[in-house]
This record gives sequence, C-alpha cells and structure tokens, in this order.
Amino acid sequence: MAEAKAPHGRGGFTEDVSAESLAEIGLRYEVDGEIATITLDRPDKRNAQTFATWSGLARIGESLPEQVRVVVVRGEGPSFSAGIDLRMFTPEGVPGQGSFGSVARLGDASFEQTVQQAQQGFLWLRRPEIVSVAAVQGHAIGAGFQLALACDLRIVADDVKFCMKEPALGLVPDLTGTKPLVELVGLARATDICLTARIVEADEALRIGLAERVVTRDGLADAVRDKTAELLSTNRDAAAATKRLLQGAAGRTLEEQCAAERAEQAMRIKALFGGAS
Ligand code: ACO
Repeated sequence: MAEAKAPHGRGGFTEDVSAESLAEIGLRYEVDGEIATITLDRPDKRNAQTFATWSGLARIGESLPEQVRVVVVRGEGPSFSAGIDLRMFTPEGVPGQGSFGSVARLGDASFEQTVQQAQQGFLWLRRPEIVSVAAVQGHAIGAGFQLALACDLRIVADDVKFCMKEPALGLVPDLTGTKPLVELVGLARATDICLTARIVEADEALRIGLAERVVTRDGLADAVRDKTAELLSTNRDAAAATKRLLQGAAGRTLEEQCAAERAEQAMRIKALFGGAS
C-alpha cells in the first residue's frame, strides 16, 4: 500500500498530505489503487479530534487521486473517536490551535469561517464520485459520531457506542452531522438521540438504520474489505451518476426525480453506446 503523495487531486492543486505532516496531527492516509484509507491514529487519546484533524481531512479530500472510488474512514485502537479534544474546553486549549475561549473571542465572520473550514473536513466524504465507508468500533462520540455520519455507509463492531454528546456540553453538533442523522433515523429519533446525549449501541444502530452491518470486533476489517470489493464491482461512472440521483431524491418531486433519471440515463447510454446520431 503506497503512501499518498497527492500529486494533483480533484481540487486541481497540490496539498500537503505527506505521511509526516499527517502523523503530526494523528492521521494516516494510504491509497491502494481505487481504495483510500484514512485512519484516525491517536489511539492513546481515543482518536480525539482537533481543528488540525479537520484541516487534515479537508486536505486529503482536496488531494484525493482521481482513481479513488472508495474511501474507508477508521480509527486505530479501542475507539473510533472520543470526539473533540477536551483540551479545547480548558483555558490553555490545544497547543497551536487555541481553545473554545479563543474561538469565542473571534468576530462573527472569523467564527463563521473557522467552523466552515472545519466542516470542509467532513463534507467531501459525500461526493458522488466516491463511496465513503466508516468502520466504527468502540466509542464514536460527538465529533466522532459526526465523522461516522459524514460517511455514506457505516459498518460497526458489536461494541460500538454512538453518542451525540454536544448538547450535554452546552454545544450543538456542527460538524455536518445533524442532516444525515435526521435522514437516517428520522426527526423523532434524532431528537431523542441528540437531546438526551444517550448511547446508541450496535443492535439499535442496526435497527434504526445508523449502521448497515454489525460484525464482531475482529471481523470489522474483513467486513469493510468485503463491502469495498462489492462497491468496486459496479461501473464507476454509473455508480457516481446513481449516487447523484439518490442524493438528490429527497429534494425533488417524483416528476423532477424522473426527469433527473432520464437526464443521467441519456448520458450513460450515450457514453456506453456511442452518442446521439
Ligand atoms: N479529548 C482528549 N483526550 C481524550 C478524549 C478527548 N475527547 N477522550 C479520551 N481522552 C484521553 C483520556 O484523557 C486518556 O488520556 P490519559 O491516558 O493521558 O489519561 C485517554 O484518552 C484514555 O481515555 P480513557 O477515558 O481512560 O479511556 P476509556 O476507554 O476508559 O474511555 C471514553 C473512553 C468513554 C471515550 C472516555 O475517554 C470519554 O468519555 N472521553 C470524552 C468524550 C467526550 O466527552 N468527548 C467530547 C464530545 S463533544 C464533541 O466532540 C464536540
């Protein structure tokens, strides 16, 4: 498996995703043909996330090689991610990155920009050209839960514990997680999960649609590998077009969706069978 050198990715410009720069912020990134794997790699701190984590994720998204079709997001060690680094709540903050105290002193425009930049680390995982798969074991708390929600699919170990802890800490979930959560489980369940900050374990996650599959902890890597192979078995362009259709479905009427299907199919058939005569 090659270290990703990020020549010129989809963003069209070079980003620093060297192993060294990512290791400094607790990330690993490997590209193997059509599969990219991102690993949260601070297991001793339960893969707690910082602003640097999110800018690292955004850089990976910008530099993702064109050939990549499946992005696996995983966490090293016992937990997928224990959420935001709790040092953010202290006056000292995270060295070089500030604290919630310093964020609170930002002007409105700077605050908006700071959070928007953080969200960029998550949003690209929904691009139609890729399918993102979260492999989730142990705790996925707050930002960890939202990172799993940012992915298209979640394969979880039977010890998984999802928790949207932000409201218990006086915050709202703002790392792109609220929309996918509502879309996956519905408004009432999302309200219950967020406003109680309760833990959702594997059986419930499967039942309510938060997880596609539950496997043993030891079986997680194999299950993700199998799903990746299945995802790669379909036609690349048809898969991207179908994902565009599925993503747009909720925002369209049936008639609009049918029109969108026709438009995508016209492009597919022209591409496959030689274009209009
Ligand atoms: N930020 C910084 N360090 C953390 C975090 C975190 N979010 N979570 C765990 N750690 C550190 C611990 O301080 C500890 O460090 P130490 O060994 O230097 O003392 C180490 O990781 C291991 O943590 P334990 O609590 O001993 O591990 P355990 O497996 O028993 O528990 C658990 C894991 C349940 C995740 C627990 O660590 C925890 O509750 N963490 C905080 C979760 C949290 O509130 N996150 C914020 C959510 S809100 C948001 O993300 C916006």
